[in-house]
Amino acid sequence: MTDYYATPTISSELGRSPEAAIDRNYLSRGGFVPPLPSIDGVEVRRLVREFGSPLFVFSEQDMRGKARRAKEAFGNRYKKVSFAWSYKTNYLNAVCQIFHSEGWLAEVVSQFEYEKARKLGIAGKDIIFNGPHKPREILEQALSEGAVVQIDNWDELNLIETIVEKYKKPAQVGIRLWFDCGIRPIWTKFGFALANGEAARAAVRLAKNPKVTLHTLHTHIGTYILAPEAYRVAAQSMVALREQIYLETSHLVPCLNLGGGIPSYSLLHGMPKPAENVIKPIEEYAEAITSVLNMLPEKKRPLLRMELGRHLVDEAGYLLTTVIAMKGHDRPAPTTADLSARAAKEWQIMQEDSKRGLLVDVGINFLYTAAWFEIGVWPSRLVNTQTTPTRLYGDLCMAIDVIRETVDLPILDIGDVLTLHPVGAYNFTQSMQFIDYRPAVILINREGKPELIRRREILADINGPELMPAHLARR
Ligand SMILES: Cc1ncc(COP(=O)(O)O)c(C=O)c1O
Repeated sequence: MTDYYATPTISSELGRSPEAAIDRNYLSRGGFVPPLPSIDGVEVRRLVREFGSPLFVFSEQDMRGKARRAKEAFGNRYKKVSFAWSYKTNYLNAVCQIFHSEGWLAEVVSQFEYEKARKLGIAGKDIIFNGPHKPREILEQALSEGAVVQIDNWDELNLIETIVEKYKKPAQVGIRLWFDCGIRPIWTKFGFALANGEAARAAVRLAKNPKVTLHTLHTHIGTYILAPEAYRVAAQSMVALREQIYLETSHLVPCLNLGGGIPSYSLLHGMPKPAENVIKPIEEYAEAITSVLNMLPEKKRPLLRMELGRHLVDEAGYLLTTVIAMKGHDRPAPTTADLSARAAKEWQIMQEDSKRGLLVDVGINFLYTAAWFEIGVWPSRLVNTQTTPTRLYGDLCMAIDVIRETVDLPILDIGDVLTLHPVGAYNFTQSMQFIDYRPAVILINREGKPELIRRREILADINGPELMPAHLARR
């Protein structure tokens, strides 16, 4: 026996919680799917009765809680920090106002979003204007209103220099940077490259232009970034560039903006549950960034700015939907009590290829993120039958409209209400009209009262912008 013997170690690879172990070991999947009967104390089925189905629901309490924890995570570690709400993540007016009332600025990426923020009463000086395409008309407005315009490319830089030539007071600008901080893919589409020196050239040119103030160095390294360490590398790269600009021009750029990307507690397809095993707390992200800035002499420390999106709103958002039909050839439904442990497992295995299908009254046109994220499915009542792998079909007349390829669900009835969660980030804003009216949206306010914040669409909303040529008009 020459083989080396290593004593076995018990790792936490499967995750410590029973939920994680069950997810990894399909033989041990239980016959119990916990129901989600209420959201913030309001009964799910009552919401559907009152406001209809499907229905988006947002929790004000959850959004405020996340916003405050983020502020504390950074604020406890670093004094000069400011936050902006990323409109594109969810620009429902009530949602934006919640973050503004928590003291968050507006981060916008288009003419439409800029105008939306202004209409909500946000002053130009409280808007950060990102994005690769800012038409001249809106650029002129934003620059004159004191917004920080974060420049994406040389053509935009040239245009801005032309616009500000006639200005008496310098306009506020920033530049967006991209670089390798260990995250793949690198988002090379946006901003100036750091590695080949173009970011430094653009920054020095702006720092020397008396018609602008180079206010910010900005980056957004990607979204759903699982490694806080990447932010440490990003902060170090930006601090180094800031120092280089200072040495060349004596201008110390006042603000470093590290964008967004901090994940919510959602999981990509195939990731082991629960999310807490994969997602690091926001405090670790704050620590990674602020520990770099805190190493600078106090007088040289910049204003740190973060532009958060999905982390703040994803879990606050739910989509309620109703089962409208059953598909596939189900075997008769046994109750858990009828089955021996062995029969229960066999039942589960025989059903493994999702022979059962449920058709619900909402489609992936309102759930854009279902392509990447494994959206949770929760029955609104406790059903005591063996769970079976089920395919959840959306209601679109399109074969690709599958919300979950396979999800363990008990036997449900037509009319049962299911809650899809989390869905608060990037679903409403990226929703597609396609063949349906967008559902109503309600907010459960801090007193636990549901309030309508967007009514269900009607035909006039969709027909409104259309015009009929005279020769096609019905007489
Ligand atoms: C410039 C910028 N900042 C902030 C965000 C918000 O990102 P996230 O939702 O990942 O926090 C985005 C989203 O893509 C962005 O493009």
